[in-house]
Amino acid sequence: MSQISYALGRGYLASVRLYAQHWMWRFQLGYLLHPTIPQDKEDLKIADVACGTGIWLIEAARTLPASTQLDGYDISPAQYPPKEWLPKNVNLNVFDMLDPVPKELIGKYDVVHVGLIVMVVRNENPTPVLNNLTALLKPGGYLQWDESDMNSLTVTPADGLTPHPRFDEYLSSRTNGYEKDKERFLISTAPPCRWATQIDNLFIGHGLELCFYQRLPIKDEIKKPWTDVQVTAAGEQIKNVVIPACKEGEEPSPEKWLQLLDGLVAESQQNQAHTMDMIIAVGRKAMQ
Ligand SMILES: C[S@@+](CC[C@H](N)C(=O)[O-])C[C@H]1O[C@@H](n2cnc3c(N)ncnc32)[C@H](O)[C@@H]1O
Repeated sequence: MSQISYALGRGYLASVRLYAQHWMWRFQLGYLLHPTIPQDKEDLKIADVACGTGIWLIEAARTLPASTQLDGYDISPAQYPPKEWLPKNVNLNVFDMLDPVPKELIGKYDVVHVGLIVMVVRNENPTPVLNNLTALLKPGGYLQWDESDMNSLTVTPADGLTPHPRFDEYLSSRTNGYEKDKERFLISTAPPCRWATQIDNLFIGHGLELCFYQRLPIKDEIKKPWTDVQVTAAGEQIKNVVIPACKEGEEPSPEKWLQLLDGLVAESQQNQAHTMDMIIAVGRKAMQ
């Protein structure tokens, strides 16, 4: 089991954030599984790893044949709905995706989906995660990875002019904080996540045939809810990770962090968009 805890909350507000993110991704992409992945086969086996609330699978069950098996895995079941409320073909399980893949899951799935796992990848090294995701696939199976590219974090005012000093401070505190205290910031979204700009090459390097790769900036229509969600996540990280790790007498103090958070909220209400690009990559495992 991974030793480092999780920076985001798992309470009801964190679930609201995940549901909102999920539907914003759908709104922008218009699909759950990219059309390059064959989806009309009977008895497809699909896994969603680090599935959070399980909503991706629950929605997939509405459009895929009833014979599809939809299995979710997450290190914590805290955000799962009760099994009584799940579609009959959805099963949610507990699994640490950094642990070795159990024998019975090796080569089990036609499709593996994973989304928004910047906080799961440790030490800027996605190889253990990719090895496990590909181990779950049958020969010829497909991996779809949807990720937010933290390298492209940017703040843009609606009028193109209004300055955003608190967001600037926040973004530079993330970068500086990571350089100063890697272990602490590794569990927030502060790590550089440079690998996220390389998912296409990573797929190829891990023996996958790259079937689809796209980088998408956030559309204007969803900049407002996207920003609200990002500010919520920033609040969770500041309160869950950054403040508890503050040392007595050291700057920035917990009060300064809370003032910064108030500043982010205020600037986001003054039509500053805080966004990053979406990345979608689809790869196919070799037949043998
Ligand atoms: C940002 S959430 C994304 C959830 C879901 N994929 C979505 O898009 O709504 C990241 C998820 O990764 C899970 N997670 C963190 N570390 C994990 C690990 N080592 N193995 C499996 N899941 C993990 C968290 O519990 C959380 O549900």
